[in-house]
Amino acid sequence: MCGIVGYTGLDAAKDILVSGLKRLEYRGYDSAGVALERTGARGAHAAEPAPATTIDVIRRVGKVSGLESELAGIDLASTCGIGHTRWATHGKPSQDNAHPHTSCDGRIAIVHNGIIENFVELRSELESRGHTFRSETDTEVFAHLIEEAYAASSDLDAAVREACTRVVGAYGLAVMCADEPGVIVVARKDSPIIIGRGERGSYVASDVIALIDATRDVVVLEDGQFARLTPQGISYTDDAGRTIEPEITHVDWDVDVAEKGGYPDFMLKEISEQPRVVRDTLVGRMRGGELDIDELGLSYEELDIIDRVYVIACGTSFHAGLIVKNMIEGWARIPCEVEAASEFRYRDPIITPSTLVVAVSQSGETADTLAAIRDARIRGAKVFGITNVIGSPVAREADGVIYTKANKEIAVASTKSFIGQVVSLTLLALMLGQVKGKLTCGQVRMLFHELGDTAEQIQWIMDTQGAAIREAALACKDAQSALFVGRGVGSAICYEGALKLKEVSYLHAEAYAAGEMKHGPIALIEPGFPVIAVTTRSPVYDKTVSNLKECEARGAEIIAVATEGDEEIRAIADHVIYIPRVRDCFSPITATVPLQLLAREVALLRDCNVDQPRNLAKSVTVE
Ligand code: F6R
Repeated sequence: MCGIVGYTGLDAAKDILVSGLKRLEYRGYDSAGVALERTGARGAHAAEPAPATTIDVIRRVGKVSGLESELAGIDLASTCGIGHTRWATHGKPSQDNAHPHTSCDGRIAIVHNGIIENFVELRSELESRGHTFRSETDTEVFAHLIEEAYAASSDLDAAVREACTRVVGAYGLAVMCADEPGVIVVARKDSPIIIGRGERGSYVASDVIALIDATRDVVVLEDGQFARLTPQGISYTDDAGRTIEPEITHVDWDVDVAEKGGYPDFMLKEISEQPRVVRDTLVGRMRGGELDIDELGLSYEELDIIDRVYVIACGTSFHAGLIVKNMIEGWARIPCEVEAASEFRYRDPIITPSTLVVAVSQSGETADTLAAIRDARIRGAKVFGITNVIGSPVAREADGVIYTKANKEIAVASTKSFIGQVVSLTLLALMLGQVKGKLTCGQVRMLFHELGDTAEQIQWIMDTQGAAIREAALACKDAQSALFVGRGVGSAICYEGALKLKEVSYLHAEAYAAGEMKHGPIALIEPGFPVIAVTTRSPVYDKTVSNLKECEARGAEIIAVATEGDEEIRAIADHVIYIPRVRDCFSPITATVPLQLLAREVALLRDCNVDQPRNLAKSVTVE
């Protein structure tokens, strides 16, 4: 949540900060701001003292484009600055609450991601010593703590280190001080910070995507490490101020990951990438006719003793878990529960050393999922991660990991990552089935190949179903609410379809197991009420169709996602979107795609920003 960027070097910092913030905007977009150094004009006489450096802070409520317009009118040749795009936690979105925050004397400016748990105590302590606060944020205490420590030491590195010892919570922090021109000091605990050195300066950001134009070789700062950036170079220290040599990571993404590549929005671009995500996630997994997940981190023996699986995750990742439950239970005959991480962490689940906890997280940094992992490990579970971000906290804290190979996902609503998660979880289910001896090698191979076929099937949907999806979207455009219904794995798909519709179009939607309709939700149905049904050919097809007939009888506008060739469904459905015939357990991979596209179309018809829905942020690093 929130995005940080900083630059010190030879070029104009203002432009670098704005372009970095635009790339980070998916992490939060309530308000944005920058702090830039300003060096006073030199007097006419050489004997006059060197001009004093000051810090200008410019902040705006709203998106980065607003800040950009404001900055366009300001003449600032500064070559050192820090910037921030905010997702509000403490304090509403307002100019005062926007970052950067400054010390009382305005000579220290900071940007911060994370949360300061003891900020109330720190704030009253600082106020009692005469500090005046100008915002409602937790972050501002950092500026005042650093101010006090700097007054004592006149050493920015030491002051930042000292302030960090006072703070309980998570932080990615970048600090400037007018008394140390050209310097940015950076600290990290439980909130990502990436640092890079380019030909024309030193850079910091909370996500590598803001740096990749300048450099491909970056340092992922570890908890408790600090960095000092100057135009000439970067030095790293630990929490005692000792010099360290951090590892350099090479980033091999295409630059166009950060661009729309000709698509009107990131959401459509990312949906279109899904065939590639399926293929890339499967590449190299079948060796010598056997399933091979080399980064599993757990031996066959360790997997063989697993007798209970919990899949824990949030939001869309949680829905990926719902989809794989039947596969784990069906193929490996191991009981599998799927739980929201935010619930799991606060109850007392039955965990033994033979329990496998599978944590699914696109970002790999969701606060609840991380807390649940830590708790599960303390209780003795084996923990396995499924994430899209290499080196993320989930990847680092799990015993083993499968990377989803979705590449960076920019649109806030998750699409391609979900498909990568479902494919990865399917691999894990196949692996467990193989290890437990419930699936033969031949069955695993056959299922693996059918799983791979979904790449082409997604492409077919993208190529042929656009018109049907647009027509269905028109039927939802003016609705107040919509119901998604399905049975079996179809109901799990519906949860994801309803979430996508809600988040990008702000149209209220609920998902129900179709068999539950008569127990309450059918009361909602009136003429024209949209019911979106997953009615693919499956063992429960007829049952779902009879539930739909009950909706039809009450005047519902029925949109069916059905199997190609199913003409019978046209008798009850007003709109039919086809997907290719596929084994039932793999239908989530294909049937979710038209629901993603439908959500996007409805959102566009309702004039919504599909990439940055209101109130949301891409990674939820606070509880
Ligand atoms: C919805 C969405 C969210 C995330 C959730 C978990 O489109 O993106 O519901 O799935 O916040 O995030 P990760 O997977 O990063 O843990």
